[in-house]
Amino acid sequence: MKSADWVRSLVGETPVILPSLLAADFANLVSEVRRLEAAGAKVLHIDVMDGHFVPNISIGVPVVESLRKITNLKLDVHLMITNPEKFIVPFQKAGADSILFHVEVVPEPRDLLRKIRDLGVAPGLVSNPTTPVEKLLPWVDDADIILTMSVQPGFGGQKLNPEVFDKIRTLRKHIRPDTLLSIDGGVNEKTIAACAQAGVQLFVAGTGVFDADDYTQRMADLKKLATREPHHQHSDDVLFNTLPAGIS
Ligand code: DX5
Ligand code: ZN
Repeated sequence: MKSADWVRSLVGETPVILPSLLAADFANLVSEVRRLEAAGAKVLHIDVMDGHFVPNISIGVPVVESLRKITNLKLDVHLMITNPEKFIVPFQKAGADSILFHVEVVPEPRDLLRKIRDLGVAPGLVSNPTTPVEKLLPWVDDADIILTMSVQPGFGGQKLNPEVFDKIRTLRKHIRPDTLLSIDGGVNEKTIAACAQAGVQLFVAGTGVFDADDYTQRMADLKKLATREPHHQHSDDVLFNTLPAGIS
């Protein structure tokens, strides 16, 4: 039986960049994964969409199964589906290392989080940008990863909404020190430092990684920006509206 403990070892390795395969070239997944392995990725983020919870359809169980056969990277499976309880076991059998589902569809998630852990998979709880932090706080002790969406889920390439930083700061105050805070949506070279300052440790990045010609360089740049201490405090306004592209 696998164990969910792997996720605890990430605590000492933060910041961790999780490339989101949604932005990969699906016709060349093997070479994309090899390039990410060479770039030092430890965890791949996999977006599962059902066309109901979100207005898009993406990756399903067979793709996770195929990925499992070609890589030892950890597979972080983000379920954007209305009935996650039906798919926990199929994704666990397919080889998921963490399974994250939305509090909007499971408002009392304790049992499902525990079921995931009992299967040897790290459980994660996700919330949409506008879902209040109070909906999460009663359940955070049963999750290893708390993922905050910084865009409305369903599509890559959107702009990060900095209003979620307040939620992340509140979460940090209320969760165990070994629970990991993750963010998903619009994470790139311009926004990642502010995410880190808010307390994020795991950074899901789709276009933020895949729009680079050199994934190794981009992964290193993102990690550096997420590590760097700020010279001085920027307002969100400055960070998200006026910084030029290519800030270093
Ligand atoms: C959005 C997905 C994300 C997506 C992020 O619904 O959950 O994982 O890949 O894409 P970017 O990083 O391009 O915003
Ligand atoms: Zn995602």
